[in-house]
Amino acid sequence: MAFRGVSKEAFIGTVTLGVVFVVGYLFGKKRKPSIMNLSKSHGTNGDDNPLMQYILRNSMREHPALANLRQKTLEHDRNVMMVSCEQSQFMANLARLIKSKKAIEIGVYTGYNTLSIALALAQDGVIVACDVDETYANVGKPYWKEAGVEKKIDLRIQPALTTLDELLAAGEADTFDFVFIDADKVNYDGYYEKSLRLIRKGGVIAIDNVLWGGKVVNPSPNDPATVAIDKLNKKLHRDTRINLSMLTVGDGLTLAFKL
Ligand SMILES: C[S@@+](CC[C@H](N)C(=O)[O-])C[C@H]1O[C@@H](n2cnc3c(N)ncnc32)[C@H](O)[C@@H]1O
Ligand SMILES: *[C@@H]1O[C@H](CO)[C@@H](O)[C@H](O)[C@H]1NC(C)=O
Ligand SMILES: *[C@@H]1O[C@H](CO)[C@@H](O)[C@H](O)[C@H]1NC(C)=O
Repeated sequence: MAFRGVSKEAFIGTVTLGVVFVVGYLFGKKRKPSIMNLSKSHGTNGDDNPLMQYILRNSMREHPALANLRQKTLEHDRNVMMVSCEQSQFMANLARLIKSKKAIEIGVYTGYNTLSIALALAQDGVIVACDVDETYANVGKPYWKEAGVEKKIDLRIQPALTTLDELLAAGEADTFDFVFIDADKVNYDGYYEKSLRLIRKGGVIAIDNVLWGGKVVNPSPNDPATVAIDKLNKKLHRDTRINLSMLTVGDGLTLAFKL
């Protein structure tokens, strides 16, 4: 029997999927919103989330130095700041896809993603790594060396806005391929505007934490970080200088493609 050109098997399959989805949705609701849950996966590697475990088990191809740095960072008391490994692998694949040579990391922490992107860059590539606290990067440096890419990482310890201004003043506008924005949220708009000038046409700006644990849905006016993220999200949607995607990976990741 056919249902509007759809085979019986496909129809039953669709209905079954629908039922599974609704049951899963209700179950998920009882357990807590999945966005909140998945957003924390970077702290725990999703140990308590079977679906996240499935994704990690069946897709991660972590360089040994990255695996070692992730383990080391998990011992650190601020490890929730680390990017999730599956998000980092995705961004490295993206950077490689567009044949990146020059990248910027805004907010390095222990440098897991900095290392991941450095590994994806061309031999003569460089990633300008911006942070205000070198004690975090000092945790990562031995692993950058272990992977043999420490020469590709140009660490600059000062406010990221200052570093971006220096790059612009040095005539490096329109020369970068990939930027990852992951530092203090109130400066996100400034990071975005300067990054947009620094990347070339076809370059990508990846912006982290755009869902902010779900708080962007109903931003409290007294919460400057949520307000800043929500404001930038809405601005990006209207921004004709870019094409964009907002993804639910990690705590939400927006990709802005410079036109
Ligand atoms: C969420 S963590 C970055 C995580 C990192 N991208 C990773 O792959 O694990 C945010 C970092 O931004 C840094 N940061 C905060 N304010 C900053 C500023 N004004 N300029 C540069 N870095 C800043 C913090 O020191 C912290 O290391
Ligand atoms: C994910 O949700 C479960 C069920 O509500 C909860 O027990 C667990 O603590 C959550 N995990 C994280 C990392 O938030
Ligand atoms: C941007 O998106 C539009 C469709 O919305 C498409 O026509 C255009 O080719 C895209 N530009 C690039 C550079 O991807």
